[in-house]
Amino acid sequence: MSHFTSRIYNFNAGPAMLPTEVMEIAQGEFLNYQGTGMSVMEMSHREKHFQTILDTAVQSLRTLLNIPERFGIVFFPGGATLQFSAIPLNYLQPGEFADFSETGVWAVKAMAEAKKFYPNVQSVYDGKPNAYTEIPDLTEADIHPGAKYLHITSNNTIYGTRYSEFPKLSKTPLVADMTSELLSRSLDLNQFSVIFAGAQKNIGPSGITIVIFDKEKLPEVKHPIPNLMNYALMEKNGSLYNTPPTYSIYIAKLVFDWLIKKGGLSVMEKENEEKAKALYDALDASSLFYAPVPKKHRSVMNVVFKSNEPKLEAEFLKGAEENGLAGLKGYRDVGGFRASIYNAMPKSGIDTLVSYIKHFESSKA
Ligand SMILES: Cc1ncc(COP(=O)(O)O)c(C=O)c1O
Repeated sequence: MSHFTSRIYNFNAGPAMLPTEVMEIAQGEFLNYQGTGMSVMEMSHREKHFQTILDTAVQSLRTLLNIPERFGIVFFPGGATLQFSAIPLNYLQPGEFADFSETGVWAVKAMAEAKKFYPNVQSVYDGKPNAYTEIPDLTEADIHPGAKYLHITSNNTIYGTRYSEFPKLSKTPLVADMTSELLSRSLDLNQFSVIFAGAQKNIGPSGITIVIFDKEKLPEVKHPIPNLMNYALMEKNGSLYNTPPTYSIYIAKLVFDWLIKKGGLSVMEKENEEKAKALYDALDASSLFYAPVPKKHRSVMNVVFKSNEPKLEAEFLKGAEENGLAGLKGYRDVGGFRASIYNAMPKSGIDTLVSYIKHFESSKA
């Protein structure tokens, strides 16, 4: 049982590290939010203080991502997985289909969910033979005629890959699961019809998912669809169709404030690239550890690495934990290690990990 007296470097993939400054503000306001005499957790979602939190969150997100007015922004209850069903139900009429780029478990799961209602869904890429270490270079020519959209996972949390450039489609709408990278890089929303992200990486606590969608490209839904998955209804009700996860939205708002204060997403993107480079450089220089993903496909958020001597893995992880470096175990199907280095991971966390990697390696030389 570890017993740290201060916060440690938490490399978990999600739920993940949140900025300490945000946690401190939440702590300070926990019992009595801005003189209301109650916690945000205890407040009515129909009351003006919460409405201000929600409105500010939406506005800040619009500013951060430079989201055009024609895009709706909705906080959905539930994880990103719920959107694997919601998207086809909103965008496909019975008998229609969409294309999927299978770059990992999350795209495979999204396709399987869509298939339950739309059996004709198609795959445009299967990364399984390459153990999901690569990202395809997709264009309109790869899309099956008649596909209503292409679904991609922009950053593959498990395998440590990402689309450094998004598919350039001339007519097919692009839908992107950005769960493990939203707010880590700047985006041109005009490239997308829908982007969505579960909150538990770069946004806040698990249990909410942000969906940003082009209202002009949303078809009218004529078939039955659960209200809580209905984009038009949820947007019309300003994320308040039912009681939303209010406290999670409040934390997300604090994270957005923190990002704006830091200078926005271009500053964050640069910081994130520097952090990832420092770690990948150390791995590329190591004779004991290596990154299995080719350089051009490497994720900036989830750094997957392995050891040439798998028998040392348990010892490496144990030593890491003892040094305040938590959550480095790789995903069960991939093995090895994974350092998830979201926005909240400071550069000092990377430096400490790199020193530990070097120290461990020299102790085995
Ligand atoms: C890229 C991606 N999509 C979807 C999910 C599923 O998210 P949730 O557990 O919120 O449903 C995850 C979870 O880590 C993820 O990394």
